[in-house]
Amino acid sequence: MCGIVGYIGTKQAQDVLLHGLSKLEYRGYDSAGIAVFAEGSVTLKKSAGRLAMLAELVDGPDRLEGSQGIGHTRWATHGRPSDENAHPHQDNEGNFTLVHNGIIENYLQLREELIAKGHTFLSETDTEVVVHLLDEMWTGDFFDTVIAVTKRIHGAYALGIMTKHEPGKLIAVRKQSPLIVGLGEGENFIASDIPAILEYTRNVYILDDGEIAVLTADRVETYDIEGTPTSKEVYEVTWTASAAEKGGYDHFMLKEINEQPRAIRDTLTGRISEEGDQVIFDEIEWPAGFAEQIDRIHIVACGTSWHAGMVGKQAIERLTRIQVDCEVASEYRYRDPIVTENTLMVVITQSGETADTMAALREAKAKGVRVLAITNVVGSSAAREADDVIFTWAGPEISVASTKAYTTQLIALYLFAGWLAQERKTPFASELPSILSGLKQLPELASHALQTAPAIEKFAKNWADKNHAFFIGRGMDYAVSLEGSLKLKEISYMHAEAYAAGELKHGTLALIVEDIPVIAVVTQEQLYEKTLSNIKEVKARDAFVLAVAFDGDEEIAKSVDQVISIPRVNPFLAPVIAVIPLQLLAYYASVVRGNDVDNPRNLAKSVTVE
Ligand code: F6R
Repeated sequence: MCGIVGYIGTKQAQDVLLHGLSKLEYRGYDSAGIAVFAEGSVTLKKSAGRLAMLAELVDGPDRLEGSQGIGHTRWATHGRPSDENAHPHQDNEGNFTLVHNGIIENYLQLREELIAKGHTFLSETDTEVVVHLLDEMWTGDFFDTVIAVTKRIHGAYALGIMTKHEPGKLIAVRKQSPLIVGLGEGENFIASDIPAILEYTRNVYILDDGEIAVLTADRVETYDIEGTPTSKEVYEVTWTASAAEKGGYDHFMLKEINEQPRAIRDTLTGRISEEGDQVIFDEIEWPAGFAEQIDRIHIVACGTSWHAGMVGKQAIERLTRIQVDCEVASEYRYRDPIVTENTLMVVITQSGETADTMAALREAKAKGVRVLAITNVVGSSAAREADDVIFTWAGPEISVASTKAYTTQLIALYLFAGWLAQERKTPFASELPSILSGLKQLPELASHALQTAPAIEKFAKNWADKNHAFFIGRGMDYAVSLEGSLKLKEISYMHAEAYAAGELKHGTLALIVEDIPVIAVVTQEQLYEKTLSNIKEVKARDAFVLAVAFDGDEEIAKSVDQVISIPRVNPFLAPVIAVIPLQLLAYYASVVRGNDVDNPRNLAKSVTVE
C-alpha cells in the first residue's frame, strides 16, 4: 500500500506534492519521491526514509521548479526500501515518468521480455516494467499507449503517468487500487486518498475500477479501460481534514477493521493458481528435500501475532500432520528450546521489529534452524534476517490494537499450511481446492461480518459498565477467544479472560456469577455439542451469554441471551470471520468508555524493548 499524488495547474507542483504526500504517509513511509515537469524536461528526486528526507533534498537551491508533477510515498512490496526502488520511475530515455500503488503480478515475465528488447532496469520493483512498457509500446499518442499497456499488465494498480511527448497532461489509471481526481479552478489533482488534496479542493471524482482519467490544468476527462468516455458525478467532500485521514471513520482502528476485506484480498493475490488447486509461494526458497524432512515446527510470536500462531498451529497440524508448537517469544528465547536440523521456525510479527520475537529468531538462527518470517513490513528486521519471508500485504497499521494485521496473518498461515501439504504430498492435500475456494470467498464474507457493527454497538452501549468478561471456545474458537479477550482488555481496559471452554470447570467456574458477561465463540462443528454443554454450565450460574455463531444456528439461539450471527464458512477458516465481531465489540466498548481507542494507555505499536 503506497500513496500517490499528482498535480497540474499554476502553483509550484513541488509544494502541492510534498503537502499531499505528508497527508498520505499513513499509507506507507519507507521511501518517497517526486518528479516535476518544466520546459520539456522532468526532474526527479527520491530517497529512502521518511518524507522529511525527501523534503531536505528539494529544499532551497535544490527546489524543483514547475507546475506539473507526480509524487509517491512507498510501503515496499517488491524490492527493499532504497533510493533506486523509490518512485517515481522512468524508462531509459526518460520519456515516461510514473508512480504506482499496487502489485503487477506478471512483472517477471514482462521484465524478461523487456530486457531482451534492450531495456535496462535500475530497480527491483514490479513497477518499473510498466514505465519501460509505455516506452516500448509508444504509439504516437499518450492515451492510446496507456490503454495498450493496461492490456499487458495483470494485477492491482493505481498509476499516475506523465510523458515528455505530451507536456501539460497527466494520465491516471485505477484498477483495484484506490484513486481519486481532485477538481480545481485552472488546476487538477490525482491522489490515492482524499486528505492529500483537501487543502486545495473539496470536489472530487472517485474513479471506478478500470477507469482512466486524462487531466490537463483546465479539464478532466474520464474513460473506461477500452477508451470509451464515462460520465462522472462530482462528489463533494464534507469531512474535516483529520476525519479524511481516517477515511471518514472516527478512529484508525475502525478504519482498519473495515479494511479487512481489501487486506485479505491483497494477501491472497497471486498466491492461488488460476485453476484454484495450488498455492504459489515463489518467495519460499528451501533447499531441495527440506519440505519433506521437517519434523517439528516452532511458531514464535507475541500478543496478537501469537494468537494468529495458535490458529496456524491447528491449520498446519491438520493439513501436514507435522507437530507444531506455538509459543510466546519472551518464553521461547530463554528456555534453550530443543531443535534439530529438521526443525522449522515460523516467526509472526506485524512490525517485524518486536524485540522478543527478534531475539527468538536470532537464537534459533544461531542454532542453525531455518526461519520463515510472516510479517507486514518489507525491510523490517524480521524480513531481513529470516531465511524466507511471507509478506501479509495488510498495508500500514496505525492503530495500536492490531486488527487487519491479525486476519492477514491468518490468511498467510492457511496458505502456508496448504502449501506445505502440497509440497509434502500429504493425503490432506486433496482438501486443498476446497480450502482455496473457501479462502477466495473470505473478502466477501468479511464484508458481511462487518454488518454486525450496529448490533454490536448497541450491545456495547448497554454493557460497557461491566468490569469483567470471559471468552470461551474450543479448538480454533478458543484461539479466537484469546484474541477477542486481548482486544477487549487493551482498548476498553475491562478485565477479560479467555478459556478453553472445557477448562472452566477446573477452577474458573467459581467466578461465574449472575450477569457476568460470557462471550462464546461457536463455529467448530465437531465440538459444537461440547461447547453447548459449557454454555449451559455458565447459564446455570446466571451468566449473560453472547454467542458468536453461524447464520441460521437455531439451537444456539435457544441457549444464550444474544447471538451475533456471522456468515457460514468452512469451520476450518472460521477464525478469520469470527474475530471481526470481537474486534468491533472491543472497539465500541472502548468508545463508550471514553478511551483513547487508537493509542491505549501504556502500550506502543512496536515493542522494540524487552
Ligand atoms: C495487540 C497487539 C500486540 C502485538 C504484539 C506483537 O493488539 O498489536 O499484541 O501483536 O506487540 O507485535 P508484532 O506483531 O509487531 O510483533
